[in-house]
Amino acid sequence: MYIVQIASECAPVIKAGGLGDVVYGLSRELEIQGNNVELILPMYDCMRYDHIWGIHDAYRDLWVPWYGGRIHCSVYCGWVHGQLCFFIEPHSEENFFHRGKYYGESDDYMRFAFFSKAALEFLLQSNKRPDVIHCHDWQTGLVPVMLFEMYKWHGMANQRVCYTIHNFKHQGVTGADILWATGLNNDAYYYQYHCLRDDHHNCLNIMKGGINYSNFVNTVSPHHAWEARFNGEGCGLEPTLNIHHSKFSGILNGLDYNFWNPEKDAYIPHPYSADNFAEKAKNKKALRERLLLSDEDKPLVCYIGRLDQQKGVHLVHHSMYYALERGVQFVLLGSATEPSINAWFQHEKEFLNNNPNCHLELGFNEELSHLIYAAADIIVVPSNYEPCGLTQIISLKYGTVPVVRGVGGLVNTVFDWDYDDSHTPEERNGFMFYQTDKYAAESALCRALDLWDNEPKLFQKLAVQGMNYDYSWTNPVQEYLKAYEAIRHK
Ligand code: ADP
Ligand code: GLC
Repeated sequence: MYIVQIASECAPVIKAGGLGDVVYGLSRELEIQGNNVELILPMYDCMRYDHIWGIHDAYRDLWVPWYGGRIHCSVYCGWVHGQLCFFIEPHSEENFFHRGKYYGESDDYMRFAFFSKAALEFLLQSNKRPDVIHCHDWQTGLVPVMLFEMYKWHGMANQRVCYTIHNFKHQGVTGADILWATGLNNDAYYYQYHCLRDDHHNCLNIMKGGINYSNFVNTVSPHHAWEARFNGEGCGLEPTLNIHHSKFSGILNGLDYNFWNPEKDAYIPHPYSADNFAEKAKNKKALRERLLLSDEDKPLVCYIGRLDQQKGVHLVHHSMYYALERGVQFVLLGSATEPSINAWFQHEKEFLNNNPNCHLELGFNEELSHLIYAAADIIVVPSNYEPCGLTQIISLKYGTVPVVRGVGGLVNTVFDWDYDDSHTPEERNGFMFYQTDKYAAESALCRALDLWDNEPKLFQKLAVQGMNYDYSWTNPVQEYLKAYEAIRHK
């Protein structure tokens, strides 16, 4: 099958979070399983050019209709660890992708509306006619809208769209500008409920358009698909999801075990596997040396992820102090876009600066993240909501025991050591709590640390059980292929 992924991220070149990992990992596995996959991405100034092979002169010019005029773009083509990618660079006054960051600009709706339009123009003008176009999150939600309202009249009537929602919180709620800019000129039409009109306000909702117009829609875990429809996690899109329930489902993310694998991870000094688990301890020593932490026989707890309300930052903070009070070590790697959260953790960083049991690294650091996954004994993932979550899946592969809140994809991937009656003791792989208060988080972390203190052999058994889980892309890709096949013949 010929599949084109249109997305705003692709790891390791463009990565703000799990979306990047998923777009790359899914594409690679689809290719490994015999499909032809191409990616269309924005050409950001701040992406990791060192991970793109063969990107030299522009591959072709592109003229993209925009506000009744046209914007000239260059399309570059290159290989990202074996995956063919096309990067679109607009030459416009707005410099849409020359902002030194991927997201968080006041004109994000315009930037990604433009990207969506340019991606379709690229397919059209290059005579590319994929069987399935796979779009991700609000940034590309306008692709199916434009495809079925405009481009199908230009020889793209046979293309089908799979739309994956990674985060319902960000829907792209905006005004009519995106219509005028992209040439979807009929305001009255698109402001209708079954088009782009937000379920609750008199404005446009790009994600809703993505849901309405796509042939298949999913979020990134079965439990979150249920939460989105029935437990308030659809962030207002529940009525739309319920109308479209027959084309909506949850497919659990996979993990690219070629990249995330302690046996061959280039970023960790001491490779290891479930069979030589003792080697993991050497990575702990290496991390301690690097971060100037004391090297004593005590557990190391970590947090890796965005510092955002979604991730339960208050519980992360509480877990850190609980760990320190217990005399164990805590390492945090995170970045915050919200200024107040950033200031809060900056303050903590200064305060805890010389503590030999604690290190806060604020910012994005791929390489360090691998070493922390490899070094830590326990990771805390106390999310408020979590469509899938990759940090717990990575941790399981690295034998780092996850302590998680029972929401979203965390419920589908982590099974409590003490309480999970639906799994045998041999199938359990972590610790879970449910409430959002600090005592709940604390008691789960306490159970994990008690096991480390009192039953070290059992703690290691639990870690190894986690390593033996298969959360690779092999199975999820089968589910996507089934969905692609189903829509292709409609
Ligand atoms: P989300 O996509 O909501 O941020 P996920 O758990 O799905 O959360 O994925 C997060 C991904 O981003 C993981 O690969 C994680 O290792 C990585 N990551 C998050 N924060 C950082 C950071 N500060 N430095 C390096 N990698 C990070
Ligand atoms: C989003 C979600 C996260 C998910 C990731 C990849 O960023 O917050 O839970 O794992 O996308 O699908």
